[in-house]
Amino acid sequence: MRAVGVSAFAGPAKFEHLILPIPTITGGDDILVRVKSASVGSPDILRAAGTLRILETIKLPVTIGSDFAGTIAAVGSAVTAFRPGDRVFGFTVNGGGAAEYLLLKPHRMLCLAKLPDEISFKDAAYFPSTSITIIQALDAAEAAISGGLKGKTVFIPAGLSATGSLALQLLKPIYGVGKVITTVSTAKVPRIVELLGEGKVDQIIDYTTQNVMKEIGPQTVDFMLDTCNSSMKYIQIMKPGTGIIYTLTGKKGTDLREDFPDAPWLVAKLLDVVNAVQTWRASRWGVVYNPVFIKMNVSNLQSVGEWARSGRVKAIIGDSADLADLERVKALATVVEKKNGLGKYIITIE
Ligand SMILES: NC(=O)c1ccc[n+]([C@@H]2O[C@H](COP(=O)([O-])OP(=O)(O)OC[C@H]3O[C@@H](n4cnc5c(N)ncnc54)[C@H](OP(=O)(O)O)[C@@H]3O)[C@@H](O)[C@H]2O)c1
Repeated sequence: MRAVGVSAFAGPAKFEHLILPIPTITGGDDILVRVKSASVGSPDILRAAGTLRILETIKLPVTIGSDFAGTIAAVGSAVTAFRPGDRVFGFTVNGGGAAEYLLLKPHRMLCLAKLPDEISFKDAAYFPSTSITIIQALDAAEAAISGGLKGKTVFIPAGLSATGSLALQLLKPIYGVGKVITTVSTAKVPRIVELLGEGKVDQIIDYTTQNVMKEIGPQTVDFMLDTCNSSMKYIQIMKPGTGIIYTLTGKKGTDLREDFPDAPWLVAKLLDVVNAVQTWRASRWGVVYNPVFIKMNVSNLQSVGEWARSGRVKAIIGDSADLADLERVKALATVVEKKNGLGKYIITIE
């Protein structure tokens, strides 16, 4: 079968077509997916480059594509939740979705759900990791903030990032947030309304030309979901005493060891030290600071599937390319690597 990845650790410029054997079911819990689309995310870039070897053993060749959508091709004898022909979408931390077939073996960083008929395979690949991340972060904020998020002021920078673009779509319709504030660079300012629709965001700040702190105002924000390592830069906008920041760009050492049991003790300790310093710095402003730790949760996929089916959220896709078009696939992956893209970047597989 055809796949895209690397046979020696490398960045997107050296991504190549791989010809691999079609995987077969060997265990009772195995699920074989005929993949129709996959998205390229930062973990794919880091795994292909070999950077994640600091946390786990990575075998070559590496096939990219952690978010995927397709149909069930075959299942092991113990699988009852899925049948051949079912439309599905999901996330697997090991990648492998940018291929004609993906063999899934149960592990704690795998999440798979049925895909409603109304959602295209291409759109579906936008949702898995973004929805798991964002729904869990917003649900946690809902529980942690006195009175929940309803009516509150929420700031999410990088509004057209993969994660930000989903979060902004959920804040008002699903969580009843009062005021939504975001930042983007100049060219993306008009694209917020164009892509997300009217009424989702109250204040759009061009972080490249405007003073974000001044535009938002000091001590006015109840909750910040930090998507781009900006927690301390903007700490003064948070309400002292009640403000909460969750960050997607940090991880606790204990959480790291849960996801990557072989991660070196020293790396986990370093993360803990960084978090302790950030937590202390935030506490000096009377603000709670916490890295978000994502757990695989099928109900998050089912929720986003229902919201997408009913038109409450939509896939934000920066660009897409067919698996056969290697040069375009490399170009998409390069955008993801540079972190200046828009939504998700999708590989379709005919
Ligand atoms: N904790 C978890 O489980 C989890 C899950 C998913 C993702 N993450 C992490 O969350 C972060 C966001 O992921 P993502 O996939 O959403 O990122 P992404 O799509 O790659 O982010 C790219 C976007 O960020 C914007 N951006 C970059 N720097 C910015 C800044 N200083 N201010 C405002 N916007 C900025 C870029 O806009 P411009 O081009 O306009 O600058 C671009 O739109 C990453 O660090 C990722 O590793 C964590």
